Amino acid sequence: MSVPPSSLALTDISPLQFAVTPNPSPKSDAERAEILANPGFGQFFTDHMAQIHWSERGGWHRASVEPYAKISLDPAAAVLHYAQEIFEGLKAYRHADGSIWIFRPDQNGLRLQRSARRLALPELPLDAFLASLDKLVQTDAAWVPDGGETSLYLRPFMFASEAFLGVRAARKVYYFVIASPAGAYFKGGVKPVSIWLSTDYARAGHGGTGAAKAGGNYASSLLPQQQAYEQGCDQVLFLQDGNIEELGGMNLVLVTKDGTLITPASDSILDGITRDSLLQLAQDRGHQVEQRPVAIDEWRDGVASGEIVEAFACGTAAVVNPIAELKASDFTITMPELAAQDSVAMSLRKQLTDIQYGRAEDTHGWLRKVVDAGEQR
Ligand code: PLP
Ligand code: COI
Repeated sequence: MSVPPSSLALTDISPLQFAVTPNPSPKSDAERAEILANPGFGQFFTDHMAQIHWSERGGWHRASVEPYAKISLDPAAAVLHYAQEIFEGLKAYRHADGSIWIFRPDQNGLRLQRSARRLALPELPLDAFLASLDKLVQTDAAWVPDGGETSLYLRPFMFASEAFLGVRAARKVYYFVIASPAGAYFKGGVKPVSIWLSTDYARAGHGGTGAAKAGGNYASSLLPQQQAYEQGCDQVLFLQDGNIEELGGMNLVLVTKDGTLITPASDSILDGITRDSLLQLAQDRGHQVEQRPVAIDEWRDGVASGEIVEAFACGTAAVVNPIAELKASDFTITMPELAAQDSVAMSLRKQLTDIQYGRAEDTHGWLRKVVDAGEQR
């Protein structure tokens, strides 16, 4: 397989200048207000999108912020045939003073680079990644909601746009960022969720693309996710070699009765930035953290013996959601019911969201300010 030379990808642009073309017919203030009052997740999109083109000969070029519009693609574009595509997910938050901040975008930028390496796509330099987010959020600042736990979900993605049916890394690539106002990911808001254990299907294998945020991983999770819905569950959990991996779109953490957080170490799961942040906050509070292979039997036996008292799902879209039960074809693990004030998951959730919304000090320097108080509208 021919991999785009990273020297080319990393040296050609710096800094990129973004040409901004305002949308001549943006949503009206009333239409936008109606959407922001009840955004749901992933249904509505802002007035603009950012994009950068890449070619093997020209490197990264043509950076722009343009009106949100359909993308025109050749039917032979490689992404449509061989799924050479990666993406990211992160959020911009409005603070009480009106300023807007993005949470740990550098980590998403580095993860996009790791995903790009695995999918033989060019690595977008970190400064170009950050600039694409900054420019789009600044242009669409009015779309960052300010009620409750709402935010602007940012979806950077990159794909093979070259029209060529030979199976090799594309020589032409598009990078885009779109933005979508977001409320709760699960319909019922923050409530304990049910998980279905998929034993018929795997999401990823050793040496596969599980650690990359590649669209194909999500395609392979859709059938088992559908089975989860049929079983009345909200998410699907995948196993590998009898060890727990992750959910279709979130990481998983167990909590023992002495407050130790246990989470899978695996080369085939996504290294979640939410999980990393929660583990850091837990360590700051003196909790032990164990990142190691975790057998499904350890979870089942641990709950039966009273050793494991909590399980939670975490990710950018879902933040933190306690898990009420894990259903499998031949057993069910029912987690103890905990009052919110006794739940490590809910307490870490509060601490994390307090930092994201500027209600608590950002001692780790995780927030990047993109719009000053009073700068927009
Ligand atoms: N695992 C998968 C499969 C995901 O899709 C996500 C969401 O992005 C996560 C884990 C959590 O990652 P993060 O916390 O960086 O959003
Ligand atoms: C995220 O949390 O950002 C995700 O990517 C999960 C899902 C929406 C795919």
